[in-house]
Amino acid sequence: MAQKVILDVDTGGDDAVAILLAGHHPATELAAVTVTHGNAPLVVTLDNTLKCVEHGGLRDVPVYAGAERPFIADPAPLDPVQNRSLPLPAPTLRPQPGHAVDFLIDYYMGPDGPGTILVPTAPQTNIALALLKEPRLAQRIPRIVTMAGAYLEGNVTPSAEFNIFADPEAARIVFNSGIPITMVGLEVTAQALVTLDDATKLKALNTVQAKVAAEEIRAEVQWFMDTLGWTGGQIYDACAVAAVIDPGLLETKPVRVEIELTGQHTRGRTVADLSGYQKKQPNVDVGVKIDRARFMRVLFEGMGRGE
Ligand code: RIB
Ligand code: CA
Repeated sequence: MAQKVILDVDTGGDDAVAILLAGHHPATELAAVTVTHGNAPLVVTLDNTLKCVEHGGLRDVPVYAGAERPFIADPAPLDPVQNRSLPLPAPTLRPQPGHAVDFLIDYYMGPDGPGTILVPTAPQTNIALALLKEPRLAQRIPRIVTMAGAYLEGNVTPSAEFNIFADPEAARIVFNSGIPITMVGLEVTAQALVTLDDATKLKALNTVQAKVAAEEIRAEVQWFMDTLGWTGGQIYDACAVAAVIDPGLLETKPVRVEIELTGQHTRGRTVADLSGYQKKQPNVDVGVKIDRARFMRVLFEGMGRGE
């Protein structure tokens, strides 16, 4: 029986790979995609998401438009590699009627809710708004597996990872909700680097999803190579989906994680008490290690699956 998932995205390239993996891997059933601001303004992330589902072989997956801006934060600085329109034909698909937050509430208060893992790969504004509007969601969402955070170094500031930095107030609501959370942060996404050679091999699978994913991976990897001199790139959001597909590929540790809201240099930090010396109740299963070989196997399984 495939695991039902809902992705909450700010499509950019790595979100697109995550959507394609969740939608095509036999171990997962992509029930819906909700969209928010983040990598780009909502109008761009929504258009990119519609392009991805339409041209990636997932036309039947419903897409809902959500929050256009963070709770309080000013919109985060946008990185040109992510703030772009995916190089795919304009979508003919339209988003579903209604707001993503209302969809999340109706879905999780309904019969399929408790069996559906929520996978935010974006600023967590939609999730937090839904929890504020319908607090009973905290007892209905079985687990959140999120690409977010970092307990060592951030990627927007030395302290903060983008998805948290973009809306720290929302992240605090989610991390304090009591919902079981698996945090797939930068420490593990950096252990699962993908290379241009991997992108070439993925494209050779010649499935509709592989062709779309390979181009997005190529663009992301090229940025890491050109900007940081790395030999591969982080396909951040795909790691979160892979952790749902094959939980054993991610080693986690139960940790108390607080979201910093006020520090001049630390706002948006996931402050993780890894040693547990504060003796506070852990609220997050923090990813500390990822098995790159198992991640790559999951990625090729999903991209290679024919229709
Ligand atoms: O920090 C990486 C995260 O920020 C990824 O989800 C990427 O898509 C951007 O949203
Ligand atoms: Ca994202």
